[in-house]
Amino acid sequence: MRLLSENKEETNDLLNEIDQTNQDTDILKNGPKISDPYRRRFLILIPVLILSLTINIFTLSTIISNTRRYETPSNYANLYRTHTEPYVLLTDYSSPNTTLSHALWHSINIDSGVIALPDSFAVSHNLRTAQRFPWDIGKGIYILHGFHNLHCLKIMYIALFEFRNGQTQSRAWPHIMHCLDALRRQIICDADDTPRATERRVEVVSGVGQHRLCRDWGALETWAKAHTACYKRPENPVDEVGLKRFMHCPEGSGYVVDEGYVPEEDILVGLPEESIATGGECVEN
Ligand SMILES: *[C@@H]1O[C@H](CO)[C@@H](O)[C@H](O)[C@H]1NC(C)=O
Repeated sequence: MRLLSENKEETNDLLNEIDQTNQDTDILKNGPKISDPYRRRFLILIPVLILSLTINIFTLSTIISNTRRYETPSNYANLYRTHTEPYVLLTDYSSPNTTLSHALWHSINIDSGVIALPDSFAVSHNLRTAQRFPWDIGKGIYILHGFHNLHCLKIMYIALFEFRNGQTQSRAWPHIMHCLDALRRQIICDADDTPRATERRVEVVSGVGQHRLCRDWGALETWAKAHTACYKRPENPVDEVGLKRFMHCPEGSGYVVDEGYVPEEDILVGLPEESIATGGECVEN
C-alpha cells in the first residue's frame, strides 16, 4: 500500500512538472484523454526512447563503419577483414614434432572449395562461365583460389616430405612446378608492402609483434559449402576419378545425382589432380 501511494505521489509530482513546463503542448490541449496519469507518463517516455534508440543505432553504425570504412568486401563471398593475427615464427604446421605437423598438413582438405555457381551469378560478377555442373546444368564448376593455393601448398609439402624421407615421389613433377609457380605469381600479384621489422638475432627474424588484418577463412568455407559442388577427393587420387567425385552431395543440397549422366563436353579439366594426373594441359592457375 505504501509503495503504491508513493508511486502515485511520484506520478503526481511528475505531472505537476509537466503541467508547469508543457502548458501549451498538443498533448495537454487534447483534454480529457490526458487525465489518465499512466498514459501521460508513457507519453513522456516516447521521446526518451526514441532518443536512446537513435543514439544506439548511431553508435553501432559508427563502430561497424569504422572497421569497414576503408575497405571494400571481397568480390564474391563478400568477406571483410574482420580480425588481426600476429606474424609468428612457428605454428604447429612447422613444429619439430613431425607427427604433429604431418597430421596437420594432411588434414588440409579443399573439397568444399570446389563449388557450383549459377550462370546468373557469373554474369553479375563478371566471371567467365565454366564447365557444367552435372546435377544442375545452369551452373558452372569453380574452385576458389584460396583453396587452390592451399592444395598447392599441401602437395608441395607431400613432395618435400617424401624427398626428406627418401621415399618415391607420389606427385607428378609438373604438378609440383605448377603449384610453385602459381604461388610465386600470387606473391607477385599481391605485391604485399607490409614492412616487417627485423631483429638482430642468430637467425634472421622479422615481423615479431606485428599484426595483419585477416579475413575469416571459416566464413569463406561456409560460403563455399552453401554453393557445394558435391566434390570429394579420395585419399588416393586414382581411386575415384571424373564425375564420381561430384556424387557426394550433402543432405539437403537438393541435387539429384544421376549415375548415368553423360556430359556433353569434356569435363573436369583444371581441377586439383585431375588434369595433370591424366596428362592433360593444366588450364587453371
Ligand atoms: C607429437 O605430436 C603427437 C600428435 O599431436 C603427440 O601425440 C606426441 O605426444 C608429440 N610428441 C612429443 C614428443 O611431443
